[in-house]
Amino acid sequence: MNAGKVYLVGAGPGHPELLTLKAAELLRTTDVVVYDRLVQEEVVALASPSAERIFMGKPVGRHESRQDAVNELLVRKALEGKTVVRLKGGDPFLFGRGAEEAEYLAERGICFEVIPGVSSALAAPLSAGIPVTHRNVASSVAVITGHEAKEEESRVDWSALARIDTLVFLMGVHNAGRIAERLIAHGREPRTPAAMIQMAFWHNERVLVSKLESLADDVAAAGIKPPATLVVGEVCSMHEKLSGAHRDLRRRRDDSSRFQPAPSPDQLFRLVSSGMASQLLGLGLESGVFDLLESPMTATDAAHALQFDADATAEILGALAALGLLENTGDAWLNLDLASRYLTKASSNSLRLAILNQAALSGGWQQLRSFAEDGCRGTFSPGGQERHRDACEAVARFAAPSVVERLEAGGPSLLIGWGADAYRTAFAECWPGVTLCTWNPFLDGSGTLNGSGAGPVPESLLGSMRYRTVVLSGILSSCESGQVERLLEDAANAVGDGGVIALHDSFLPESVLPPPDVVLGALARRISRGGCRCWSLARLGGALTRLGFTRVRSQPLAAATVLVTAARN
Ligand SMILES: C[S@@+](CC[C@H](N)C(=O)[O-])C[C@H]1O[C@@H](n2cnc3c(N)ncnc32)[C@H](O)[C@@H]1O
Repeated sequence: MNAGKVYLVGAGPGHPELLTLKAAELLRTTDVVVYDRLVQEEVVALASPSAERIFMGKPVGRHESRQDAVNELLVRKALEGKTVVRLKGGDPFLFGRGAEEAEYLAERGICFEVIPGVSSALAAPLSAGIPVTHRNVASSVAVITGHEAKEEESRVDWSALARIDTLVFLMGVHNAGRIAERLIAHGREPRTPAAMIQMAFWHNERVLVSKLESLADDVAAAGIKPPATLVVGEVCSMHEKLSGAHRDLRRRRDDSSRFQPAPSPDQLFRLVSSGMASQLLGLGLESGVFDLLESPMTATDAAHALQFDADATAEILGALAALGLLENTGDAWLNLDLASRYLTKASSNSLRLAILNQAALSGGWQQLRSFAEDGCRGTFSPGGQERHRDACEAVARFAAPSVVERLEAGGPSLLIGWGADAYRTAFAECWPGVTLCTWNPFLDGSGTLNGSGAGPVPESLLGSMRYRTVVLSGILSSCESGQVERLLEDAANAVGDGGVIALHDSFLPESVLPPPDVVLGALARRISRGGCRCWSLARLGGALTRLGFTRVRSQPLAAATVLVTAARN
């Protein structure tokens, strides 16, 4: 098995809105999250429901230190082939022991990447209205550990520090007195302003403004506790003037924030690819649990509505809650955002049919194996053709607006494949006045599956017409052997000079790994249709280039799909 990858990710000073987009994205897709004390639950909650969460805030038995335990854990998980997000407060390389973890991984040949975070060294003073530099007041700033003030052989050069305008000490609460003494002894004015900021960006943030000469007493009297950041320098006098600004980011008393992470539908595709979860999701979707729980309902009432046994219903609802799809509020059960948005019939974003299809394909794994063991005789269709059609329509409907947003249409366009209505609406919104012709090669005139795969594009659509954009939706996963090439050729002939070809599909890209079920589903369809070859990004890029297209680009879209565009010069 290939080793996974470890991301050492900065989580910022605590508030989830101060995470980087990259950190949020990694959390959504990672297999394992390793975190400790200073990382807030709301940040960890961004991880996909199926991710393993490991808290390393406590000392761990057999290891000499917690750090040894963390290092070993990261390597072990990576060797299991997992993607690991190691969340660290603030920035991983600033007094966070991130460098030690990176060294440990590098020495063992584990692939890793470091993602910066907003450091408390800058964010804590800022939160208190203290700019660490100011054109008239401070031109230099240093960040120092407060731990070394007590050591006789400190590596800190105190006489050099005393000449720097602004000093920011992390981990300095217990040594505040010694820090002040050393700075004064090395020539800093005893009346130099100093400020302690405790729990910046948490609801119980506190700021103490003092002077070097009285810092130790004031810190003790105010009962300041770690984590707190100490700032020394004239800039601290700006606190009064700048701290009154209205604060969007400060957390509320009840510890809640305005922050509502938008759940990613990819979480669902990942969930449905794990055995037990796919069965649960399939059951939940087929029995209508999510439609029912748009309003709060007790397990007994739900059992009655579903005509399930009461105990079984309680178990199922509990398990769906553990997957991050439902919540229990006292007596009642209710959909969480993820279920409400993507799993209910009524939602305009519903991916119900696509997820149901994936669940059916997962269930078909054993069947597929016996089919393969049997020499792939006959046909294999775990989900059924109807289900495949529903899934393709659901994905196309879901993705059409994002596909169209990424195009530069502006002239007559042609859609070949799934989602005609959704594409018509999306075109009308984005490109009013642009004509969109549609044709689904997999359906007959009455909208029924024709069962024989894709025929050639009708002459009525081609004729002498040249389109500005030709969109191919879901053709790779629906075509029989040899038909993709023919459709691509037809599409290429239909694109005029300067036009664009765009393919949206869930095929097998090298760079964006689809969840196993997508692969399995594609494989099953290929087997059932006589061995249509796999379409990877590289193969598709080659085909488009041979057809005279350039600037082949691929971008991942929602629901584990990819959009490939190419232009004709
Ligand atoms: C081990 S250091 C880690 C620093 C972290 N890597 C960073 O870049 O923010 C921990 C120290 O950061 C400071 N700190 C972390 N979170 C803080 C917060 N929310 N408010 C004030 N200071 C904080 C405190 O000085 C604490 O003792």
